[in-house]
Amino acid sequence: MNQNKLAKAAKYLCQPGKGILAADESSGTIEKRFKTINLASTETNRRNWRKLLLTTPGISKFISGVIFYDETLRQKIKRDSKIIAGIKADTGAKPLAAFPGETVTEGLDGLHERLAEYGSLGAQFTKWRAVINLGKGLPTDEAIEANAHVLARFAALSQEVGLVPIVEPEILMEGSHTIQAHAAASKKTLLSVFLKLKQFRVYLPGMLLKTNMVASGLAAKRQAKPKEIARATLAVFKTAVPKTVPGIVFLSGGLSPEAATINLNAINRFGSQPWQLSFSYGRALQGEALAIWHGQNQNKAAAQAVFFKRVKSVALARQGRL
Ligand code: 13P
Repeated sequence: MNQNKLAKAAKYLCQPGKGILAADESSGTIEKRFKTINLASTETNRRNWRKLLLTTPGISKFISGVIFYDETLRQKIKRDSKIIAGIKADTGAKPLAAFPGETVTEGLDGLHERLAEYGSLGAQFTKWRAVINLGKGLPTDEAIEANAHVLARFAALSQEVGLVPIVEPEILMEGSHTIQAHAAASKKTLLSVFLKLKQFRVYLPGMLLKTNMVASGLAAKRQAKPKEIARATLAVFKTAVPKTVPGIVFLSGGLSPEAATINLNAINRFGSQPWQLSFSYGRALQGEALAIWHGQNQNKAAAQAVFFKRVKSVALARQGRL
């Protein structure tokens, strides 16, 4: 493992003023997204969509990396070389036997070989998403631990082949829980994840954490304000995330593009922290542009303009400069 190379790439990804575009929707997820605009999920449509995003003029000013899905990495879509490529390495969250309502993410079998191939296809970083559900009696310690374990195995394997792992425990915002409940589940999960990362000898300066902001459930009656979200999120990180992790990149997790932007700004307004606090949004960056594109080439320029505008404001928010 070349630690310097890993640390340099991790730092590159979360450099000030830039963040990551998550465009690694699996076949099932992109089909769901295209359904919202009545578009069939064909290989050509999927390629055209990702190409539209990546060829948006000037976008590399704000985007340091893009996460692809297996198919997209192989499509070799042209992009500015300043945008480095990553790959979703897991094969999805599957029901955890004997634990109704909980999942464990799969994909460890043959992972070493797959990662080596992704490296040869140009990937410089990887991502693995674990999903933690809130609810009555959930999450259980067992679900947290099972996911923390596979995240650590994934991270160690990625570093072994020279790829920067993005370790992503997502404590879902779906539900009607309070911000306090979300904070407690997030803290417990992150503590467990970092314990396992340490046990499995993951080199923390050569990885990034991707996780949720701590917020009220999306269906909760009382919605915490951005400042409250920022305070709760930073308090959890201060207890659970070692200072040697160079950056934390947020997922948008069903927040509107506007809320994802405003909350990120509020978080960065709290001033300098031990980690870079950046973004790795999927829906919050793509949603508005997808609605305008509608699968029609004639809408390409308009969709790119909206995408550019959103990326630019998220990049400003990432510096607390909105
Ligand atoms: P969202 O920003 O749409 O939550 O997606 C980010 C992601 O990559 C989830 O794994």
